[in-house]
Amino acid sequence: MINLILFGPPGSGKGTQAAHLVEKYNLVHISTGDLFRYEMSHDTPLGQKAKDYIAKGELVPDEVTIGMLRNKVEAHPEAAGFIFDGFPRTIPQAQALDRLMEEEKTTIHALLALQVDDEEIIQRIKLRGATSGRSDDSNEKIIQYRIDVYKSETTPVFDYYAEQHKSHRINGVGTVEEIFERLCRMIDTAGEKIKTVA
Ligand code: C5P
Ligand code: MG
Repeated sequence: MINLILFGPPGSGKGTQAAHLVEKYNLVHISTGDLFRYEMSHDTPLGQKAKDYIAKGELVPDEVTIGMLRNKVEAHPEAAGFIFDGFPRTIPQAQALDRLMEEEKTTIHALLALQVDDEEIIQRIKLRGATSGRSDDSNEKIIQYRIDVYKSETTPVFDYYAEQHKSHRINGVGTVEEIFERLCRMIDTAGEKIKTVA
């Protein structure tokens, strides 16, 4: 099994890259943002709980997000591994993920952090907002707030996995193919280490 966290600020290309990585490595992609959007579009109780936070660019409370993530992982007992995209966003989420992986007799193997500067991110999100229909992608104040929340609440997750020697930085600027190559190089190196330990 190989379990990866695709990390980085909003608009850093996590979803785009995850779509390519799942094909190459035969993994299950879990995007908590996509799951929330699905729930909201079907107006489920979970969607109703999440929608005000998401509209403001705030984080949905940990217990809600963790519960949703757990259900999704448990729904895939056959998985060869997971790509977590947009999760964990806080230290309690990271601790919950580690516990869940332990219960599943596995672990997080690597956190891959896409590095993109704020200016480029804002441009990318605005461009995405023009076609995504996401209200949180269309308002500059909300975009800036999401970046602020990322810096204050989410970046500590990088350090949390760095303490476990699992965090890696990847240049997230370039063509989709270039960034994909960089990620694959990193994953293959991590994969070699897993084989050596096993
Ligand atoms: O990951 P993505 O950028 O698609 O998430 C969109 C929104 O969903 C976030 O701005 C946040 O409001 C919410 N979210 C969350 N906790 C997560 C993932 C997403 O609160 N772990
Ligand atoms: Mg995304």
